[in-house]
Amino acid sequence: MKPIKVGLLGIGTVGSGTFNVLKRNQEEIKRRAGRGIEIAMVADLNVERARELTGGECDVVNDANLIINNPDIEIVIELIGGYGIAKDLVLKAIAAGKHVVTANKALLATHGTEIFKAAQDKGVMVAFEAAVAGGIPIIKALREGLTANQIQWVAGIINGTTNFILSEMRDKGLDFGTVLKEAQRLGYAEADPTFDIEGVDAAHKATILASIAFGVPVQFDKAHVEGITKLQAVDIKYAEQLGYRIKLLGITKRTPKGIELRVHPTLIPAKRLIANVEGAMNAVLVQGDAVGATLYYGKGAGSEPTASAVIADLVDITRLATADPGHRVPHLAFQPDAMSDTPILPMAEITTSYYLRMNVSDQPGVLADVTRILAEHSISIDAMLQKEPGEGETRADIIMLTHQTQEKNVQAAIAKIEGLPTVMGSITKIRLEELS
Ligand code: HSE
Repeated sequence: MKPIKVGLLGIGTVGSGTFNVLKRNQEEIKRRAGRGIEIAMVADLNVERARELTGGECDVVNDANLIINNPDIEIVIELIGGYGIAKDLVLKAIAAGKHVVTANKALLATHGTEIFKAAQDKGVMVAFEAAVAGGIPIIKALREGLTANQIQWVAGIINGTTNFILSEMRDKGLDFGTVLKEAQRLGYAEADPTFDIEGVDAAHKATILASIAFGVPVQFDKAHVEGITKLQAVDIKYAEQLGYRIKLLGITKRTPKGIELRVHPTLIPAKRLIANVEGAMNAVLVQGDAVGATLYYGKGAGSEPTASAVIADLVDITRLATADPGHRVPHLAFQPDAMSDTPILPMAEITTSYYLRMNVSDQPGVLADVTRILAEHSISIDAMLQKEPGEGETRADIIMLTHQTQEKNVQAAIAKIEGLPTVMGSITKIRLEELS
């Protein structure tokens, strides 16, 4: 059988990894896929560099439309990124009857509904293993391996840049700004790291995970997005003293009232495996009702790790290209006519535990006032740490861990406590998940 022909849009880090791994492992990949997979065309604005990277082994063009309009190309790999031109090209490729492989989480988290609908109507596949946690086959695991389960929750370290920064802050006791500069110098963080450090990249990925876990449409606009820029070294230190690590988690949870979808710094018990995922590594913890907890760990970015996911999608498509579209794995794990309209909950309605740090006057009655306000808002204290004032100081840090409560209770209690004349400045609030 002739090889299936693939067109690659954008040959940067992941594109060149895809080209190289496909070439290096072509024999084994062919044995797995049942036929060869050949990148026959590459489109990139930097034609010279693309020619160098591909060594003259395929056609290199500077206009992606030449790939989309080529009837010999059956699969288009979109590695351009963003939701401008990438969206147009993906929709054009689908309209031209081509299957699409993409690593573009921003595109799918924001325009996934339109893209999957177009693909469904046209009977083509849109595969996106590389869009979440790079080389970790988490889409495959959730969509197929765990298909027997009611997924209860998913919690993941799904941004390597921020995990690297948090690991360095903890190891070296440095503040966020210093570590960010170091991460940029080492090439871990982009020159413009906004999407990573503000939690947007993780929220794109969490949005996709929520859809696959619960069979709801992709709804990035409903996700709570909070990054690590305001996190202070002192909170990492206090969390450690209480037996917790702080990680930027993407969390999605099924509750009786709706689905929680949130990204924020989170205290997790230091003894959990996922708390020990350090540096730029990713990990995703999935809780299913039948299987219990399962943990997936690996590289969430990089040339060949991400290429590993892109090529797995190419192999899947090659195997299924001739199958009746109705018998393929649905894009979002659930059949398109069986999607759920369960709402994504507003943040005020979520339930979790909290770490609260406040700076108070060291005088009688202060703690009584604080605990009274917490009790009035049905917030129960789980643990407490008081840092004695230093020599000549009259104020002390109090750190409290609460039991589970609703976010709106905590917001209301914090507003009241901040109004006390004995409490200085604002209260630091970090959410806490036991992940048990
Ligand atoms: N910028 C991402 C990260 C990698 O730092 O994990 C690509 O998703």
